Amino acid sequence: MSRRIAVYPGSFDPIHNGHLDIIERCRPLYDEMIIAVLANETKKPLFSDAERVEIIAELMAGQPECRVESFSGLLVDYMESRGARVVVRGLRAVSDFEYEFQMALMNRRLDPNIETVFMAPADGYSYVSSRLVKEVFQLGGDVSALVPKLVERRLREKYGKAAR
Ligand code: PNS
Repeated sequence: MSRRIAVYPGSFDPIHNGHLDIIERCRPLYDEMIIAVLANETKKPLFSDAERVEIIAELMAGQPECRVESFSGLLVDYMESRGARVVVRGLRAVSDFEYEFQMALMNRRLDPNIETVFMAPADGYSYVSSRLVKEVFQLGGDVSALVPKLVERRLREKYGKAAR
């Protein structure tokens, strides 16, 4: 039987507890999970793709069924290169729906073999986004319940001592 491989793509700039919650929920459902970090410098990420991959790899240590890679170009092409058919995306709120629905249908148009699976995070994370984590941290707010310790440390290194 072929291995069930799920790809969880995203910017992950940086990864937060809502993302980790989705990974935890997906892990038992698939034989392998690839966390695919979009390498797109035009989005001007705070963390380079190498840094984002490094952070996630450290967080996934000890979970051999999860691996992390960066990708560029079309997601469907990357998926084909990995023999994966399932895209996993978190749906936090209705506001996410339109964008996610568009992407799911476009990906299906590009490759009819691809299916998108939407997962709801724990309700405590429904408002958490990488953008807000960065903004709150930069302005001195407490993000300790929203990101792992490692990410908090890396944010501190990026923003310097002025932030928390
Ligand atoms: O975390 P994000 O930024 O919402 O993730 C968006 C992502 C990476 C899933 C999306 O931008 C993507 O798949 N980019 C790759 C390029 C591509 O395939 N574009 C067409 C998809 S409809």
